[in-house]
Amino acid sequence: SEVFVLNGPNLGRLGSREPDVYGAADFDDLTALCRDTARALGLHAEVRQTDDEAELVSWLHEAADGRIPVVLNPAAFTHYSYALRDAIAQRTAPLIEVHISNPAAREEFRHTSVVAAVATGTIAGFGLLSYVLALQAIAELLAESAD
Ligand code: DQA
Repeated sequence: SEVFVLNGPNLGRLGSREPDVYGAADFDDLTALCRDTARALGLHAEVRQTDDEAELVSWLHEAADGRIPVVLNPAAFTHYSYALRDAIAQRTAPLIEVHISNPAAREEFRHTSVVAAVATGTIAGFGLLSYVLALQAIAELLAESAD
């Protein structure tokens, strides 16, 4: 079954963006990792990235309408977008919030997530492995709800 892997602003610039924080892998590498991981788990990952809040909100509506599970890296929107939070709250399928870095160990403004309370759970601080762990969690949750 299908899972969305949705990424917010500046994540398209992985590889060149602050590599000391976010690593050397670029967005194509992340896309390939998510697709391969999903395939191994019997899922199909649809991987998307946008810098646009309205577009990200519309993708969350699409996921809610299709009852499609989501792995979401909201990037900077994490810290202030109530529009994103309200879109996430409409879902019924699992949604895992992921971060490459560990926001709790960084600047004060990153310590707040306005979406965490409406996510199924959060995985942060493991680099690109955060996405792998989130996809594994989705696969487990889907298997549990199937039996
Ligand atoms: C991030 C952490 C956010 O604070 C930041 O704004 C990002 C990336 C992460 O994956 O570590 O853009 O979500």
